[in-house]
Amino acid sequence: MAEKKPHILTGDRPTGPLHLGHYFGSVKNRVALQDKYNTYLLIADVQALTDNFKTPEKVAANVEEVAIDNFASGIDPEKVTYVIQSAVPAIAELTVFYGNFVTVARLERNPTVKSEIAAKQALFAKGVTIGFFSYPVSQAADITAFDANLVPVGEDQLPMIELTREIVRKFNATYNMDALVEPEAFVTIGARVRGVDGGSKMSKSMDNAIYLRDTPEEIKRKVFSAFTDPLKASKSDPGHPEGCVVCEYLRLIDPENNAQLMEDCRNGRMGCVADKKKLAKMLTDYLEPFRERARPYAENRTMLKEILHEGTKRGNELANEVLRRAKEAMKINYFTK
Ligand code: TRP
Repeated sequence: MAEKKPHILTGDRPTGPLHLGHYFGSVKNRVALQDKYNTYLLIADVQALTDNFKTPEKVAANVEEVAIDNFASGIDPEKVTYVIQSAVPAIAELTVFYGNFVTVARLERNPTVKSEIAAKQALFAKGVTIGFFSYPVSQAADITAFDANLVPVGEDQLPMIELTREIVRKFNATYNMDALVEPEAFVTIGARVRGVDGGSKMSKSMDNAIYLRDTPEEIKRKVFSAFTDPLKASKSDPGHPEGCVVCEYLRLIDPENNAQLMEDCRNGRMGCVADKKKLAKMLTDYLEPFRERARPYAENRTMLKEILHEGTKRGNELANEVLRRAKEAMKINYFTK
């Protein structure tokens, strides 16, 4: 029976292990949607190289790890198609064509790229590279190459989806043909997770992340180092759970039973140390099935490579078909007419 499910495409940059911010910000949604959608997951190694081109070993080392983190989160390799970006030439070709539909000024306004450039001043000391500056165009190619209807992402990726939609509309209108599918974003607003240091965002580069496959010891160490309410010096002081990341994580993991805990923090019945003990235990239990699900893939790299290889082959079939349509629209299908 022909499968007529709508398509999902989303991706991860293989630059490090996935953490709670990735999970609650977006991976959880893709896990929930994998039955209803024909899901393509992209390991965006080409995009990762745009700001890691001097350390390719770092990118290469994380390709399999990122896939394992997704399986750890509940992605079923039988249900999704896993694709490695650099092994899909059609994405690179589409990127070139989409460049015709994006002005330099349009890219300069992208708030996510702006803040990334600000954070990477050393790398871009002599100027921002074309590769990094234009990665949103290549991301539009990632998305459209798999006929994506829906793109589950974290909030910071909304500008990329908006640009993709613009490119699709302009492309289809210019060539008067529905060659490309216009995607929609799927985000959980307000799902951003702060770092253990209280920083605005959990991130590997800020060294404030709890990773999905952290050991119980690592979880404990990180939780006990976490930022809490500076005004609550001792247990009996009235607490302010809004500003405290320990309270934030407790709420994330167990939103239903959170009200009493927060009340006990406020009225001085519960102290930060007790909260941290509770959180370390809860997080360890919460992440235990993640470590379990990861194990078979981490221990059988041959099987893992096979999954990625097979998925990439299937991904190429679809991406080549989309490229064929795009070339037909642009009237450069000389030899396939
Ligand atoms: N830019 C995304 C991130 O940093 C990763 C990514 C690459 C992506 N290609 C994509 C996400 C396509 C969604 C769709 O997390």
